[in-house]
Amino acid sequence: MPEPTEAPPVTHRGAARVPGTVPTVVVRGGTVIDESGQRRADVVCSGGTVSAVGEGLEVPSGATVLDAGGCLVVPGLVDLHVHLREPGNEDAECIDTGARAAALGGFTAVVAMPNTDPPLDNAAVASEVLALGAGAVCKIAVAGTITVGRAGEHLAPMGELADLGVRLFTDDGAGVQDSGVMRRALEYARGLGVTLAEHCEDRALAPGAAMHEGEWSSRLGVPGVPAEAEELMVARDIALVRLTKGRLHLLHLSSAGSVVLLGAAKAEGLAVTGEVTPHHLAFTDAELADYDTAFKVYPPLRTAADVAALRKGCVAGTVDAIATDHAPHRPEAKDVPLADAAPGMLGLETALAVVLGALCGGEGSPLYSASGEQLSRLSTRDVVGLMSWRPARIAQMALCQGGDQGGPITPGAPANLCVFDPTESWVVDPLRMASRSRNTPWAGRKLTGRVRHTICAGEPVVVGAEAQR
Ligand code: DOR
Repeated sequence: MPEPTEAPPVTHRGAARVPGTVPTVVVRGGTVIDESGQRRADVVCSGGTVSAVGEGLEVPSGATVLDAGGCLVVPGLVDLHVHLREPGNEDAECIDTGARAAALGGFTAVVAMPNTDPPLDNAAVASEVLALGAGAVCKIAVAGTITVGRAGEHLAPMGELADLGVRLFTDDGAGVQDSGVMRRALEYARGLGVTLAEHCEDRALAPGAAMHEGEWSSRLGVPGVPAEAEELMVARDIALVRLTKGRLHLLHLSSAGSVVLLGAAKAEGLAVTGEVTPHHLAFTDAELADYDTAFKVYPPLRTAADVAALRKGCVAGTVDAIATDHAPHRPEAKDVPLADAAPGMLGLETALAVVLGALCGGEGSPLYSASGEQLSRLSTRDVVGLMSWRPARIAQMALCQGGDQGGPITPGAPANLCVFDPTESWVVDPLRMASRSRNTPWAGRKLTGRVRHTICAGEPVVVGAEAQR
């Protein structure tokens, strides 16, 4: 076990904070990185917005000072893809615990997926979730479903959901199998100016699959799903975007072929974006060698060549965003044979460190040389772009409940900040996580890169790597 980390000092000058008010906060001694560049600067936040950025700024009376020595100060991270399980599965997660997990991971806004029970396929349920999210420690935007009940047959009332500010629609957990339904959905979405987010999997190729179909599934005798199940739907949906001029976001891409298809769609000028997850950047299907259900996830972990291609897609700019697909599950859903286990893993509290390791570090990682190729590394700014301003744009955060996210860190901008130490190592302890579930594949593993403070709408919700409420 690691030594418990000392919380960096928090000092208060002058009067104590009046409950219910947004304090004045000075983030002192860090390096600010946003889309416009990098500079050493303190950041003063007051009344929920950034009020000053510069070196050696005077601390206003009554301000809370947060030490950012050795840290990078970046726009709050934005996650396009989280499962908060409310309503319906609050024993696995709820909006409150999921938001706290997000804040500990440096996220100031997340998009909650609609595969709840009941699903977010109508304005009443979506309004309820948005109302619950309004009190959370980070901004909660929601995605609506594409079809009623996620059944893939009839379009959900996207118009009434869009009127609430919903900008993303998905049947995540399942892809829309019927091409005619997907075509109509794209046409309808285009009229509304919203984006369809597809979970790409041709179900006919995935009966009973618990992992990737390949060498490891053969060795283990576990039914698998081939990468082609994903790639077929990616290719079909790109063709439908060409036909309809709609806008498409491809969720959790996992295969080398999908990255090639995404790159070709972009080269053609189609409105298609794609995300990858931290776990698909970090793990291969070999992790399932012991039938460990923590590594069961949809789409499945694939080969070293796929991992290398996803990393290259991030480096090349083909991949637009990294999203966690944070998928909490109760122990009863995971402590069962692999075939019966629920797919998914926690992601919010480990994402930044995992991605930094996969894309900025990675020296000595066999994944880097799996195909005999030396992959270039991403700058930290590019990583933050993949986890902050680029997803903020895909989610149209400024137009929905997420608010203005992704920076820049400049006077007048909303004070949504993530302050992290890229060199701090820590060992993941599931018992210390804010999530209500424990299904992290990183349990007991050492990660480097730790969120020290998170400021959401001016409020320090994480200080010294500890949640403040
Ligand atoms: O592994 C996954 N779990 N993939 C999904 O697409 C859905 C998610 C869940 O809801 O648990």
